[in-house]
Amino acid sequence: MQVLTNKRILLGVTGSIAAYKAADLVRRLREAGAEVRVVMTRGATEFVTPMTFQALSGNPVHLHLLDTDAEAGMGHIELARWADVILIAPASADFIARLTRGRADDLLAAVCLAGGKVPLAVAPAMNAQMWANEATQENVRLLSRRSVLLLGPDEGEQACGDVGAGRLLAPEAIIAQLAQLFAPGSLSGRTVLVSAGPTREAIDPVRYLSNHSSGKMGFSIAAAAQEAGAKVILVAGPVSLASPDRVERIDVISAMEMHDVILQQAKTADIFISTAAVADYRPAEAWSEKLKKEDRELSLKMLPNPDILASVKKKFPRLFCVGFAAETQDLADYAQQKLHKKGIELVAANWVGPAAEATGGAFGSDENALHLFWRGGDLALEQASKAKLARRLVEVVAQHFNGGQNKSVSNIHFLSKE
Ligand code: C5P
Repeated sequence: MQVLTNKRILLGVTGSIAAYKAADLVRRLREAGAEVRVVMTRGATEFVTPMTFQALSGNPVHLHLLDTDAEAGMGHIELARWADVILIAPASADFIARLTRGRADDLLAAVCLAGGKVPLAVAPAMNAQMWANEATQENVRLLSRRSVLLLGPDEGEQACGDVGAGRLLAPEAIIAQLAQLFAPGSLSGRTVLVSAGPTREAIDPVRYLSNHSSGKMGFSIAAAAQEAGAKVILVAGPVSLASPDRVERIDVISAMEMHDVILQQAKTADIFISTAAVADYRPAEAWSEKLKKEDRELSLKMLPNPDILASVKKKFPRLFCVGFAAETQDLADYAQQKLHKKGIELVAANWVGPAAEATGGAFGSDENALHLFWRGGDLALEQASKAKLARRLVEVVAQHFNGGQNKSVSNIHFLSKE
């Protein structure tokens, strides 16, 4: 499973004979789903060429602090900001000493200093005597007190022939510990498909039928699923919202277009969250020229659009599907009906129209309240920002998804109201 999907790892390679092992580490970090950028110290370049890391990471390697071109592109501050974690592997005794002193005399040290709240993980690799030396041990204790995550070292035979502690930790162990830093027990390595926004049904080249959906709820859910470690594909109707970070977005206009794209994307998805306000009908024919105003009645013949959620569930029965229900009355009854009629796992229901005024209104608003229903349980999520609600919803979806669809609902009793 890709335990580091979408995570940005800044790998610092320092001057240790174990630098060659960092090449394999880059490959494995990418296999685990991470994006990797490499910063090398001058010492590291004596052991391995930057070209090796450039080829393996797929990104240019960063080498110099006082380089105007590099600083104009992605300088030390941007590099630190870009990272979700800074990993130093291998970390030499000298680099560890410089780290404890807060030096900024080369690019890697400066990036670590500029990292602020970005977690810093250090995997030491050095001769066993250098590791055992009280100076190194004091430095490492100091780093631990500063919440630096210490990965290893391993014990065993060393390149110099000595035996003892000081070997670089194996890549699998480094990756497993890094993965624990991010959203434990969530949607790591899963693919989540989200639909959002309204659809537009063309009448003629300049007119269309649509609704008031702003897409905010769906975009917040896409962002929350990404934060929870998932690869996210967001299929968006026409909205004026910026794409969430690290989410693959596909824009569509009409319900038929959304239908085709979603059925295609569902093939590789684990979870489908359908927040789009899909138009139920479309004009039977769209005029190819702009309709002219005339002094007589105009009738539009309408055809029903396919129910995208129901079709997806029918075609991919194993896909975990979440539907939305916007109702003006009998919220719980309609939500339960939808659960059964569409054969889906979860319904997120909310009030719209006059009934929604008490909860601040749903369409276009930054706040909402949701009531979740599944077979045998429900959970009311109180009014909150759409971003906060989205995180709660994704948590509940992850718990149900990870709990397995075949397990009894009693496993998830803590989610229900009683
Ligand atoms: O049946 P109703 O339209 O109330 O169901 C709403 C749910 O179904 C939402 O999750 C919406 O995204 C989805 N839907 C759909 N295709 C339609 C209509 C609704 O996927 N044509």
